[in-house]
Amino acid sequence: MPEKDELTKDSSISRRQFIKNTGIVVGGTAIGSSALLAACKGDTTTETATNTVKVTTTVAKFVCPYDSIEFDTFAALQSHVDSAHEAGDPVTKYLCPYDNQEFSSLADLKAHLEAQHLEAIAPIEGMVTLKVNGKDYPIVVDPNWSLGFVLREKLGLTGTKIGCDRGECGSCTVHMDGTPVYACMVLACEAEGHEVLTIEGLANGAEMHPVQKLFLERSTFQCGYCTPGNIMTTVALYKKTPKPTRAQAREALSGNLCFCIDYTRIIDTIVAGGS
Ligand code: FES
Ligand code: FES
Repeated sequence: MPEKDELTKDSSISRRQFIKNTGIVVGGTAIGSSALLAACKGDTTTETATNTVKVTTTVAKFVCPYDSIEFDTFAALQSHVDSAHEAGDPVTKYLCPYDNQEFSSLADLKAHLEAQHLEAIAPIEGMVTLKVNGKDYPIVVDPNWSLGFVLREKLGLTGTKIGCDRGECGSCTVHMDGTPVYACMVLACEAEGHEVLTIEGLANGAEMHPVQKLFLERSTFQCGYCTPGNIMTTVALYKKTPKPTRAQAREALSGNLCFCIDYTRIIDTIVAGGS
């Protein structure tokens, strides 16, 4: 790739570096961690002098205090509360399904489970906690699921696009610990313990990120499929090189393919938006 070889070595992130970065991440972490509830116990019956007492040790369900939806595991309840309810929503009480004690937070309930019902807590195979856009998502993943697949199909974060699904096009670009990587080339289980940022995490509420505004104002897209990846790459570039040259912009975008507009416009936008 003669063009890339001509480019400055210290500027931004080339496609080769992209894949290399991904390789580093892939080499990193291990599966599994969160200690969570496993199978329920059975019922037992105790005979007394006066009557028959049925002692039920079967774990009922973890109940969401906001909407009374029931879940089989603490992790499922936690995931539901994180995604469906605001932190500031008035909480009633979280109930321990083993002994009916009440707790005012999920953290307190979890601590109680770990302290008092350890025998009922067992790791669930494939359970990981992914930190995406600052939020924890406990989720059971298959070993071969990519981060891109999980983001889109399991967490509903469809801003990350899958184009080639083999590390070629860059449309799936997200940040992992601040470094842009191809989400299709990172296994979901390997993303545990890392901070993942997707295009959804850039905006501040209804306020778009400056790079999102830049691409919009300069109409730097046509179908838009590659645009989230381009924006994530550009955000990373500006962090490292606030005022990139054309060569630096081209090198940074060398891992992001576009099938619609000519690359000159994308590079023009990136150079114009630097500060
Ligand atoms: S979908 Fe990941 S690089 Fe193309
Ligand atoms: S705008 Fe369509 S693929 Fe880039």
